[in-house]
Amino acid sequence: MKFALHPVAAAAVLALSTAALAFEQLNREQEQGQKILSGGKGETEAERRESPLDDDFEAFVREALDRWHVPGVAVAVVDGEDTWAEGYGISSFPSTPVTPSTLFYTGSTTKAFTAAIVSLLIASGNFSSPENYSPLGWQTPISHLIKDDFVLLPEYEWPAAHLTLEDALSHRTGFPRHDKALAKKYGPDQHPGTVRDVVRSLRYLPMVSEPRVTWRYCNLMFMVVSHVIQTLTNQWLGQTMRERIWEPLGMDSTYLSVEQALEAGEQIAESYYWDYVGESDADEGHGDGKGFVKVPQASLDLASGAGGIVSNVLDYAQWIRCLIRGDGDENGCPVLPKEAHRELKAARIVLSPESRKGYDAPLAYALGWEVGTYKGHRVFTHGGSMEAYGTEVYFLPDLEYGVVLMGNTELTSNFVGREVVWKLINDKLGVPEAKRFDWSDAGKKLIDRQLKLPETAVDDLDPERADPPLPPALALQEYAGVYSHPAYQNITLELIDEDGPTPTDSQADKGGRRGKLKAIRDDMEWQMTFEYIHVSGEFWAVIIDMLNTPNIITAQLARAEFVVGVKGKVDILKMEFLEDGSEGVIVFDKIV
Ligand SMILES: *[C@@H]1O[C@H](CO)[C@@H](O)[C@H](O)[C@H]1NC(C)=O
Ligand SMILES: *[C@@H]1O[C@H](CO)[C@@H](O)[C@H](O)[C@H]1NC(C)=O
Repeated sequence: MKFALHPVAAAAVLALSTAALAFEQLNREQEQGQKILSGGKGETEAERRESPLDDDFEAFVREALDRWHVPGVAVAVVDGEDTWAEGYGISSFPSTPVTPSTLFYTGSTTKAFTAAIVSLLIASGNFSSPENYSPLGWQTPISHLIKDDFVLLPEYEWPAAHLTLEDALSHRTGFPRHDKALAKKYGPDQHPGTVRDVVRSLRYLPMVSEPRVTWRYCNLMFMVVSHVIQTLTNQWLGQTMRERIWEPLGMDSTYLSVEQALEAGEQIAESYYWDYVGESDADEGHGDGKGFVKVPQASLDLASGAGGIVSNVLDYAQWIRCLIRGDGDENGCPVLPKEAHRELKAARIVLSPESRKGYDAPLAYALGWEVGTYKGHRVFTHGGSMEAYGTEVYFLPDLEYGVVLMGNTELTSNFVGREVVWKLINDKLGVPEAKRFDWSDAGKKLIDRQLKLPETAVDDLDPERADPPLPPALALQEYAGVYSHPAYQNITLELIDEDGPTPTDSQADKGGRRGKLKAIRDDMEWQMTFEYIHVSGEFWAVIIDMLNTPNIITAQLARAEFVVGVKGKVDILKMEFLEDGSEGVIVFDKIV
């Protein structure tokens, strides 16, 4: 299905003092599309701020939605005592508008909640290491808490014993993502995966650096922490988050399970991707076959503490308000003890120099937060991206200012988010246009590069290859089959017939037959397609795209090498996945 962007109903507008309004009342008023202005305690008429979400802002957002092909976003701004929130565009085609209470998957912005829960367990004084009886702390080794589950390859004896909660929560364990090893089912009985299964798969996975040396984003490590939390508390993480953070803060529309959100009757935005090439068979859109394609609602419970939250901007506004207040006043955010505010926000490791972008200096990572400064003001931020949703969260505690944006596409919602958030921050600080970082250009360059990936993949991966390339040793059909790895599970390669010319002549096998080797990984949590492009001999380039959002803008590359054994058959497939750089070499055995 595809849809045009424009049938937008009048967006609901509201501005509210969070302290003053109960949520039910809030929902009612926002449904009526009223504009509410209510000040905080003791606020006079003169002190009331103008809403930053004015007509000019709306025009800015609508232009960005159109340019980035995003159906809709919701925005909330926290400024001192005031909160403003508004929805723009489409939550679900043909005409359901986004409102401030529309729910979205919030992806990796979940991580800050996971870290916050650990801070509460530490502060409770109720837990200690069963190994040495010392109280639970940020530096408690993970292996003390989930000993038999936290097992690594034999060569990683030291990290297995010494990696701490703090290492896992700041992406400095030395493990890369390995997101493609996250399966739907585990074990010989093929039971639905649990975080414990994910943790137990680490024993088959390579690290890519020494611990604590470089920042390397790793979702699996947040699932490790989920497992630790669930083991210590003996209950589901979603319940702990509800009891300890969401309920006390009045975040009544926040869930760690999309099923629960649906049961509660919440309206969750549908998600979409934009078909840039016009390949899908749709009759609506911007003409020439291009348009929005609806993405099936994913159930991503397994992402748990790494990215499983579904929420809205109103609830998130409560959360960042709490983090802002607790930063200055120890009673400002009672759900987190003072010590927790300090620890959660303290930088643990620096990001790459490229993270600098518009900031004063490169960013660092705290516990579930990126931290930096902008024009001398501290900034805490995290993005989230989940199938076809994107969230951006920012707060600047020195200014008592924060912004949340949620949208219903992957990646491009984050692009809209950054442009919108930085416009608000720059307007707030009065930064002249000429001195503002060009977020739009940064996003455009990335998309342009992605859209060319099918043509540039081989040159990008193997600029120095045999010319002309050597043909593969065997007929293409011989490479088809099932390849298996204990953590990455199965890659089932099929030879797809292809008409017309293929990217390289050697794609044709000895019999002159042309075809393409392709795997559809729909049994994995992140459903992907792997397309193999022949490079030379047994070496191939692989383009990996998302199965449900196949518009190449979130595609990645991998290198592949087949090993032909003494019997003249393919024995092994080595894959080097390259998300954020090499994820190590994964060796798959050909089993069928
Ligand atoms: C510590 O455990 C006790 C006993 O289970 C419980 O009553 C108390 O609420 C816990 N303290 C915190 C801060 O969680
Ligand atoms: C992998 O493929 C083999 C052979 O088809 C099959 O027996 C096995 O169940 C598959 N494993 C998983 C985890 O799907």
